[in-house]
Formats: sequence, C-alpha cells, structure tokens
Amino acid sequence: MSETTMSGDDLAALEAETAAALAAAADLRAWDAVRVGTLGKSGRLTALLKGLGAVPAEQRKERGGALNRLKGALEGRIEARRAELEAAALEARLSAERMDVTLPPRPFPPAGADQGGIHPISRTMEELVALFGAQGFSVAEGPDIESDWHNFGALNIPEHHPARQDHDTFYLPAIDGRRPVLRTHTSPVQIRTMVAQEPPIRVIVPGRTWRADHDATHSPMFHQVEGLVIDRGITLGHLKGCLIDFLRAFFGISDLPVRFRASYFPFTEPSMEVDIGWNRRTGELGKGGDWLEILGSGMVHPRVLANCGIDPREWQGFAFGMGIERITMLKHGMPDLRPFYESDVRWLRHWAADPLSPPSLAEGV
Ligand code: DAH
Repeated sequence: MSETTMSGDDLAALEAETAAALAAAADLRAWDAVRVGTLGKSGRLTALLKGLGAVPAEQRKERGGALNRLKGALEGRIEARRAELEAAALEARLSAERMDVTLPPRPFPPAGADQGGIHPISRTMEELVALFGAQGFSVAEGPDIESDWHNFGALNIPEHHPARQDHDTFYLPAIDGRRPVLRTHTSPVQIRTMVAQEPPIRVIVPGRTWRADHDATHSPMFHQVEGLVIDRGITLGHLKGCLIDFLRAFFGISDLPVRFRASYFPFTEPSMEVDIGWNRRTGELGKGGDWLEILGSGMVHPRVLANCGIDPREWQGFAFGMGIERITMLKHGMPDLRPFYESDVRWLRHWAADPLSPPSLAEGV
C-alpha cells in the first residue's frame, strides 16, 4: 500500500467524521465546536495542512492537492450546515412568536375580571385630543386658580362688565388686594398661550372649570374645552370648517346639521353660537328640525390679541369653547350630569370606556 492511498484513507475518514459531527450538531453552538475542531487554529485539517512540510517532496504536490480539495469540501459542508441550522432557528422563532391576527378583540370587562375603565369625561377628552390633533392642534393647559386678569380682564371683561355676573365666580381670599378666582372657563388659557407663544398658534385646552351653580345639568366643578387658532389671514370660513368637521366626527353623524347664529362674547368679534340639529322630543341628534345650542365661538377680539402683545393687524384668529359634560351627555344620551362625580360603581361600569381601545380616527371616535 502506497503513502498516497493511506493518506487518502485518513482524509476520507476526516471528511466522514466531520460530516457525522455536523449532522449531530443540533444548534449553532454545537456546529461552531465542529467548525473550530476542523478548520480552527488547532483543528484537525489545519494540523494536516501544517504537516505538509514533513511530507517527502515527491508526494507533497499530490498530498497538498488532496488536502486543498478536502478543505474546500469541508468548508462547503460546514457552511451548508450553518445555513440549515440558521433556517431551523428562524423557523422555531417564527412559530414560537406567532400571533393570531384573527383573534376577536378582548371583551370588556373581561369575564370575571375586575378591570377598571375610562371615565366618560376622560374618554371625551381623549376623543377631543384625537379629533383636533388630526386638524393640527396641540394641547395647552393652565392652572385652576387664576388671576382676575387672566380669567376676565385680558379677555376684555373689565371690572364692572355685566358678563361677570353670568359667571357665578368662586373667589378666593385676596392677595395684595387682588382676589384670585377658580377659573370660570378655560378661556384664560388662551391668554396664557398667547403671552407665552409666538403665533402661529393652534391649541385646544381641555380642563376643569368652576361656577357656583348646582342642578341636574350644572355642577360647581365641570369641564370645558377651549380652542384657539392664531395665524395670518384666518377667517370665519376657517372657524366654520373646523367646527363643522369636528362636530360631525365627534357625534358620528356625517350630515349633522350645524348652524352658526350671531351672538355676543366680550372676547370675540363677531361672536357666534353654534347649534346642531336634533329632535327636541326624542333627543335624537341629526334630524327632527329643532336646534340645540352646543358651543360658543368667534373671531378673537383685536383687543384680546393686543392685551397679549400680538399685533391684530398682522395676526387674526378664532376661538371656541364648550362644555365637556354637555357634549358627552348628548353623544351618549345621558339624562343627568350629577352621576359623573358620584363614583357609583354601577354607573361607572355602565358608561366606562375600554382602556384597551383608545379612540381611533380610523374607526371614528
Ligand atoms: N368662555 C365661554 C364660556 O365659558 C365659552 C366661549 C365662547 C369660549 C366663545 C370661546 C369663545 O373661546 O370664542 O361660556
């Protein structure tokens, strides 16, 4: 038997053993151990290649050729096994992480679970943010305890103005001769925003408001949302488009009748009350030939702009304000405002929104 045949045997054995070890390697770690044991610095093939120098010169060429062919073959097998193992690992991950997109939405509240819900006031606020957010508005906030100037004076409601009597204001003890108030509307945040921010401005202001008033449709603490847009060349057309789009989306009635009626607010000129169509007898919105007042609005009075350091010759804008309880009651057909704050768990369970389904414009809010 010649040397060549013997070396052919040891090479064939190495190839067979490597192939068996690769087949047995169940994961990439085991595979890597085989790779290193064969092609690594002290691997078996590497050792044979290193031994080539000791082979008699007349056999070296043939032996060298055989080793190189084996090297190519082993590299090919090792690479092929790596690809196999990687594909298997990916497959395993995909099936472990599989998600059934056809699963029905989670029932709310989940059977037997004592899960909380979103209060209808909070839900309406989320809807307002989603709807006006889509029109490019961001959210501004202000304090509940306000100065007389922010709540009245800067809004063009001077000391002895009759509009002050409409507000049933809660006053706090005077500081430096001035009585702070619990804000009677969200409009003071218009002032804070215009003082703090350069136009263009586009904000809504959802928040708590206070008036000394209590019956089935009034509470001393309630909520409003204010809207303010200041930019160049803003007209009544923008105001109307913005509010019509909002009201139709909020109430989910695409042809909801909306009427703008001349009115008076000290901080807007001209001012308009906005009515929606409904049926006075049944309470159904959208048809019936009756009108229901829903919010106040108007073009921001030039004096209010000037009070905030904004030049009314350069900037115009519109504003609006509405009661959050009111639009929530109308949307859902709730007859009484008081339960909003009574924490009756049965009422809350009935009216709460699913926290796992935030308002989505795609579904309509
Ligand atoms: N602040 C008014 C209120 O509480 C509502 C309101 C009316 C706000 C007209 C506005 C507006 O911004 O333009 O009754």
